[in-house]
Amino acid sequence: MLPVTRYAFLVSPSHNRVYAQAAPALAVAEMAVLAERAFEGRLRDVGTTTLGGLPYVTFTLDDAARPDTAGTDLALLSALSSAYALFVVDGDGDDATLRPVTRAAVDLFDSDLLTVQKYAGKTNEDFTRLLVNVTVAATDRPRDLAGPWTTRPDGARRRLRVLDPMAGRGTTLNQALVRGWDAAGVDVDQKDVEAYATFLRTWLKNHRLKHTAGLSTVRRDGRSLGRRFEATVGATADEYRAGDTIAVELVNADTVRAADLFPAGHFDAIVTDAPYGVQHGNRASGTRGAGGRSTPHDELTRSPVPLLTKALPGWVRLLRRGGAVGISWNVRVAPRAALEDVLRDAGLEVLGDVRDDAAPDPWHGFEHRVDQAIQRDLVVARKPR
Ligand SMILES: C[S@@+](CC[C@H](N)C(=O)[O-])C[C@H]1O[C@@H](n2cnc3c(N)ncnc32)[C@H](O)[C@@H]1O
Repeated sequence: MLPVTRYAFLVSPSHNRVYAQAAPALAVAEMAVLAERAFEGRLRDVGTTTLGGLPYVTFTLDDAARPDTAGTDLALLSALSSAYALFVVDGDGDDATLRPVTRAAVDLFDSDLLTVQKYAGKTNEDFTRLLVNVTVAATDRPRDLAGPWTTRPDGARRRLRVLDPMAGRGTTLNQALVRGWDAAGVDVDQKDVEAYATFLRTWLKNHRLKHTAGLSTVRRDGRSLGRRFEATVGATADEYRAGDTIAVELVNADTVRAADLFPAGHFDAIVTDAPYGVQHGNRASGTRGAGGRSTPHDELTRSPVPLLTKALPGWVRLLRRGGAVGISWNVRVAPRAALEDVLRDAGLEVLGDVRDDAAPDPWHGFEHRVDQAIQRDLVVARKPR
């Protein structure tokens, strides 16, 4: 038998608050996706156990098989949305002891970047991290999750690029920025773009990070398409001076026009939390002007499927081959099969396709209760190479 190391991690207390009883199951599902995508079969036996009255996720990792990748393995484990404290488990049964493992510093900035903003309609930051993680894991370069960089087929290195095409006030953008990835977003609500611009500028100043930031108007063929907030950030002053900066932008526009805003094939991952049909209705596209102000005639539809049907062809154009789309939505307003159909119709391969004979897990382990009106799930699909 190959030598394997047993690990256990304590599920983050904030995870328990977000998901209540579902927290360990969601942590296992995230871990299982990473095991399948990023560990070449070396990570196995994912499960849960209670130690000292607290929930732990446990697994085995064959780290002897690839000692050269130990640093990347640790970074991948450290990137999980659910992992709080990581341990190696020595011994068995009652004699087992936990040996702390220092996690890799995969987040480049203080966690208050993710937690300071509070507003109605915010997608929980831990859930957003989970959605981002499983979407990047679904790309053809899943180990990119370990750090800021991706390596192109020609060998050149660049930052990973993530788009949230219905970004609100930027929870996904912040999750990308903290990992050193270039982040872009689109939202139809001008107030969201302005609020995010104010937040990020203040946060960058308070943290004394070298940056540029500005709001401008996007024009195409002489017409105003909406406001655009753009920032570049240096993780360190030296990197900023060397021009090695992280780009963040958020554009006020209807997401069905997203393909007009960015170059084709630009993004590695597209991640979005679709409107829930509760507080945030999705406007059937085109019913809002560039200013993004509501009118009494704005039509609120409950299901995100009509909007996704219109928007996905444009989003897919913006995705590179081998890139992935991850969408979370409220299953009370649209069944999973409808979301999968829209993704397939747009030319994508759904991960864990139920029509596949192979077991659909781990992609079906994410459904959980948010509140009385919202039962959330996620679906991930990849653009063929
Ligand atoms: C569930 S919220 C996303 C919240 C975001 N993740 C955050 O934490 O701030 C859905 C977002 O979709 C946006 N939206 C709805 N219809 C849209 C459209 N046609 N184009 C662009 N954005 C749209 C809403 O304005 C809202 O901000």
